[in-house]
This record gives sequence, structure tokens and C-alpha cells, in this order.
Amino acid sequence: MNEYILVCVAWPYANADIHQGNVTGSYLPADIYARFHRLQGNHVLMVSGSDSHGTPVTVKAEEMGKSVAEVFDYYHGRFLQLFQKLGLTYDLFTHTDTENHFRVSQDMFLSLLENEYLYRKVTQQMYSPTANKFLPDRYVEGTCPNCGYQRARGDQCDNCNTLFESAAELVNPRSKVDDSALELRDTEHFFIDLPALAADGLQAWLHDGKEYWRPQVINFARNFVDQGLIGRAVTRDMDWGIPVPVDGYGHKVLYVWFEAVIGYLSAAIEWAHNNGTPDAWRNWWHNPDARTVYFIGKDNIPFHTVFWPAQLLGSKGLYAEDAQQQLNLPYDVPANEFMNMEGRKISGSMNWGVWMLDALARHDPDPLRYYLTAVMPETRDSDWSWQGYVERNNSELVANWGNLVNRVLNMTNRYYQGVVPDPGELTEKDQVLLKAMDEGLEAAAQLYDACKFRAVVQENLRLSTLVNQYLEETSPWTTAKTDMQAAGRALYVALQAINVLKVMWSPILPYTSQQLHELLGEAGTLFGEQKVETYQESERSHVGLTYDKGTAVGTWQRREIPVGRQLPKPKPLFKKLEPTVADEELARLGL
Ligand code: MF3
Ligand code: ZN
Repeated sequence: MNEYILVCVAWPYANADIHQGNVTGSYLPADIYARFHRLQGNHVLMVSGSDSHGTPVTVKAEEMGKSVAEVFDYYHGRFLQLFQKLGLTYDLFTHTDTENHFRVSQDMFLSLLENEYLYRKVTQQMYSPTANKFLPDRYVEGTCPNCGYQRARGDQCDNCNTLFESAAELVNPRSKVDDSALELRDTEHFFIDLPALAADGLQAWLHDGKEYWRPQVINFARNFVDQGLIGRAVTRDMDWGIPVPVDGYGHKVLYVWFEAVIGYLSAAIEWAHNNGTPDAWRNWWHNPDARTVYFIGKDNIPFHTVFWPAQLLGSKGLYAEDAQQQLNLPYDVPANEFMNMEGRKISGSMNWGVWMLDALARHDPDPLRYYLTAVMPETRDSDWSWQGYVERNNSELVANWGNLVNRVLNMTNRYYQGVVPDPGELTEKDQVLLKAMDEGLEAAAQLYDACKFRAVVQENLRLSTLVNQYLEETSPWTTAKTDMQAAGRALYVALQAINVLKVMWSPILPYTSQQLHELLGEAGTLFGEQKVETYQESERSHVGLTYDKGTAVGTWQRREIPVGRQLPKPKPLFKKLEPTVADEELARLGL
């Protein structure tokens, strides 16, 4: 009991608004999992932040004619707003441009160097004599050696889809910035010795256990490592990023994928510092019983199942007195597949997607969370459709779960003036129902823990159908006229049942579960509150999202709604959506 659980959530590049595919792919499942484990009484730390570095952010800044800092601030601020409105309860949502993250990233680099898992190697890179610097592949254009397309990018030909190892493969490479000719020049970089790390534990770790991992994730990682790894450069010739902490290399930066993943560690350290318990991060990172779980999309699988574990293995002794002390390797990486929309791939440049902050101006958070969970791409790609959103809202949230709550609360109000009735002695039928609820609570717990959230939705709907059937059979609206004792007993049992379902739904539907909590006359909040805080560091300051559990009362159990309690006046939890809602949303997309 009281396990330490680190919920690691993918770090979005601060270069675009977040769409529903990002949310259902990693942020929402992470939040559901974190909330579930908080209700279990576990010590949950959920961390992430904006990914500030790398060419995705610099390219966007150039496109927008803004500075990198402006672009970063704009999107980071919008992420914070979105996460608050959607109820994503990060214990800390920071970013990678903090003093703390710089230091932790450099320390991990130096630890790998000290442990002899980094080596230097001279390679050839594209150099722009006009700009007087090396250009990242994204800034290089040239003729595709495969199909002759003249505007192939340094990393990929958009015409024939060939991927290039290096921009040097292009014929007649030119700078995308000023179209000038480029030349290859020698440049020295640090490489991580992945073959050595594979032999020193990575391969054995991947082949040890992991029965509970998603097959597509563990199979990918094993194949990838079993085929033989090669060293990978972990530094770049760029000026935006974290300086390489070695004399003579300070004008180079750490590769963005090398340092962004270190954010999981640095954010835990930052959280502990802000919390006034600077060593507390070790409960998640140095405690062999802690579980670290990574919520990411499938495009991030190699980084989280191979490269990041290699970094963790190679930095043995980091921040420890014992040189053998190891940072925890991932407990699980329940990566999701992709979500499409209306049968087509979601795309920022095509403006094809549901921009979540924008959608929250028109839709409540729980129906959005509900649909995104019900169609979460857990085992295969899935599809968002506005018609599906409206239909499932109406037939499941409103007609099944919401209707059950309304019936029970309205009848209690009508027949008992809102006072929880005394059931007298429970019948066999009552006890069967309550037992089914307790078993359902346990079944849902197993499914939440296994990150099978679509199955949770099915289990919860099954149980609310069961309670609806119980009401049909006991028919308190009839017995209220003939046998008040029987009516009271049925309503008492149904009230207890919806109080269990409230717990079972709450990780997915936190807002309406909180409303129901209050409608059942319960005090306090199920989960606590979120707030945006500004942190002052020695040189930089930043804004991050934090979550305050101070007032949370939730527990994963059936708690009695006591006889005689006066309940507040009932209110519906959900709204029926007209089919025109889907039409309007499709019209926004130009359909
Ligand atoms: N910003 C990257 C992406 O969006 C990386 C995310 S996860 C990280 O794909 F841990 F590597 F940062
Ligand atoms: Zn081509």
C-alpha cells in the first residue's frame, strides 16, 4: 500500500496548439491514471513541461517572424490554460528552459561521460559559409538522390518519402534560409555508446518480464535492440539549447531528444525543491519499489523504451553517494496509437483537428474527456467523429449514467423531501446489487491500473445499466404509493450504488463526479484544486501548473451516504446535445 508512482507525461513542443490526438494519446490517459492512484491513496507525482528547444521551435519562430522566446511564451501559456480547463492535474508542468533543467541535463551528460558511455567522434555536417555556421538538417534542402525531386528536405524527401540518415545524401544541398550553396565540414560531437549500454544491461532489462507491457511497445523495443544498436550523436551545432558542459564545446548544445527526456527527472527535482522537501524526488527515482510510468504517443516509443533507459542505465551514481546507485528504469510505457479525425490524419498545417482550448469554449470538459476515453487509441488507431461525440454523449452519458443519477436524486427529493430514507432490513436483491457494485469497483481498479481505460468505460456503463434495471424491478415510483418502506429501501440502495459509480467515474469525469459528490451531500473535494504558480529562479523565472491535494477527500471505496442526511436540490449532470452541434462543428472544418 501507499506506493510511489511517478506519472511521466510527454513534453509537448512549445510550437503549436494542442489537438485531441495529443490529448487522447498521452495527456488524458496520464491524468486518469494519476487520479486513480491518488484515490487509491498512493503517492502520485505527475510531471511534464513544455519542450522548449530543438528545431521545431526555431523553425516555427522563423515562420511567424517572432523570437523563439515569444513563440515559446505564447504556446506555453496556452498549454497551461488548456490543462487547467480540461482538468489535467499535473503536480508540476514546467519547461526545459529552466536553470534546474539545464543543470540536471548537464549533470546526466557528465555522469555518462564519467562512466565512459560517451565518446567523441568527428563527423561531416552541412556548413553554410554565408551564415558562418552548421545547419541542422531541417534547414537544408536539395535534390533527392532517389527521385530527383529538387526540394527534398535534409531529413526526408516529401515526394518519394525516402528518409535520409544525413542531409549529406542530398545532391546539390542548399540553405533553406538564403538558398546559398552548402559544403560539408568536419565537426566533432559526443556520441552515446548504445552498443555498450545494450550489453551492460539494456538488452537484458528489455527481455526481463514485462508481460504486462503492451505487445506493440515491447515488441518494437526488443526488435530494435536485438537488431544491433549504433552510437548516436547527443550534441548539435546550434545556438538554441543547453550548452555542452565540456571545455571547448560550450558553443554546441545537447541534442533536444537527449535532454527533453531528462525532464522527467529534473521536473521531479524541481517539484521537490518547490515543495520544501528537496530530497523527496528520490522516493520516485531511487526507490526500487516505485513505479515510473510513461504516457506517450507511438512516435515516441524508441525514445522512451530504448534511448532514455540507456541514459538512465549509463548515469549510474548520479546524485548518489553509492556509485552503484541506479535511477529507476521505466516500469511501463503504455504508449497509445494515433487518433484520426473524420477518417483523415490530424494535421496542424492542414488545420485538421480539434484544437482543444478552442473546443473548450463551446464544450464542457467532462463530455470531451468522456469521448476521448471511449475512443482512446489504446491498441489501434482510432477515429474522432463529431457525430460520434454527440451520439455517445447522448446515449451513454445522458441516457445511461446521467439518467440514473437524475432518477435517484429526483425521486429522493420528491418522495422524501431529499432526506436519505431509512432502508430497514436489506433484501437479498439489495445485497446482490451492492455486492455487484463492490465487485465492479474492484474490477474497475484492476482496469485503471492496467491502463485499460476503454474497458473501464464499458465496466462502468454495465454497472449503471445494472442499477437502472434494479430500479425498474423495484419500481420505487410505484411502491411510493403503496409501500413507502420498500420505496425507501430501493432509493437508499440506489443512492449507495451511485455513490460507488461516482468513484468509478471520477478519474475520467472529475467535474461531474465532484458535482455528484456535492449532490450527495458530501463535503470537500474529491481531488483538490489546480493553480498556476510563478517560480522565481536565480536567473530565469517561469510559470508552471501545480496541483494542490490539500482539500482532497477521495478514496477508492464505497462510503455510506447516511440515513437522514438532507441532500441538496438535484441538478442534471449532463446536457443532451442536438445533432446540429455536430453539423456546426463539421461546418467549422469546412465540411
Ligand atoms: N517534444 C517531443 C514530442 O512532442 C518530445 C516529447 S516527450 C520527451 O514528440 F520526453 F521526450 F520530451
Ligand atoms: Zn525523392
